[in-house]
Amino acid sequence: MKIRKAIFPVAGFGTRFLPVTKSQPKEMLPIVDKPIIHYLVEEAVASGIEEIILITGRGKKAIEDYFDQSFELEYNLVEKGKHQLLQAIREIPNLARFVYLRQPIPRGDGHAILCARDLIGDEPCAVIYGDDLVDSEIPALAQLLEVYNQTNQPVIGLTKVAPTDVSSYGIVETSDHNNLLQIKSLIEKPEQEDAPSNLAVIGKYILTPQIFEILAKVEEGSVGDGEIRLADAFIIALKHNYPLYGKLIDGKRYDAGSKIGFLKATIDFALKRPELATELRAHLKNIDL
Ligand code: G1P
Repeated sequence: MKIRKAIFPVAGFGTRFLPVTKSQPKEMLPIVDKPIIHYLVEEAVASGIEEIILITGRGKKAIEDYFDQSFELEYNLVEKGKHQLLQAIREIPNLARFVYLRQPIPRGDGHAILCARDLIGDEPCAVIYGDDLVDSEIPALAQLLEVYNQTNQPVIGLTKVAPTDVSSYGIVETSDHNNLLQIKSLIEKPEQEDAPSNLAVIGKYILTPQIFEILAKVEEGSVGDGEIRLADAFIIALKHNYPLYGKLIDGKRYDAGSKIGFLKATIDFALKRPELATELRAHLKNIDL
């Protein structure tokens, strides 16, 4: 079944970027002149996604405004004859069909994803978190979809991380299955000595209706406002021997949700822009290190 919809959980507080995220969604921080979320929507669209479901929360209105039409701005650009900018601005609302849902309280990524269950219905779907930017020839999500198309099972995006970083990620153990990586186990944020590998889960997934069923059961079993994590659903699925696959993403990945990853992405993406590259490269060479 063709995957048409992608869920973007974007309700988080962006604590790693305070104070700027006090009044600005972290997804709207710019890499050169486009917000991070724009790159991620482009990745989804280039992978064949038609509908983007954003799970938002308080303080995230700037995301809705960004993907909406801006009549006043367009009028102003017409008046000034800035046709190229006008075209770029006009394309944004037409990238995909945008749907917004509010997560009333932050109860974990699994809960955010469950909020979209009725909108997804009985279809497989993609999930993209707001942090992981990948610069690659084949869009990262399209790489996951290739594996889904061969297996019809959930697929998790993976990257190799330094042993010292495993405690920030879900870490998986895999086995080779007809040249595909089948996931044997997943440990959420293990200590370095408990990590089964250095293969880390990144925020790109293909989910099937079974994963939603498991998530819904995790929610029923949760007490009070306990957090519901997507990783828990995968761990339960593995316990029941449901097949899950991983895809080691080809390309350069940036954790744009961390300050250092954001800075690296900013420099590398700027160096790819002809109008900025020469001066930036000269500046970087002249810095006294
Ligand atoms: C979540 C997942 C984790 C994954 C990470 C990728 O953690 O639970 O398995 O490695 O996203 O970004 P979070 O970073 O939301 O705490």
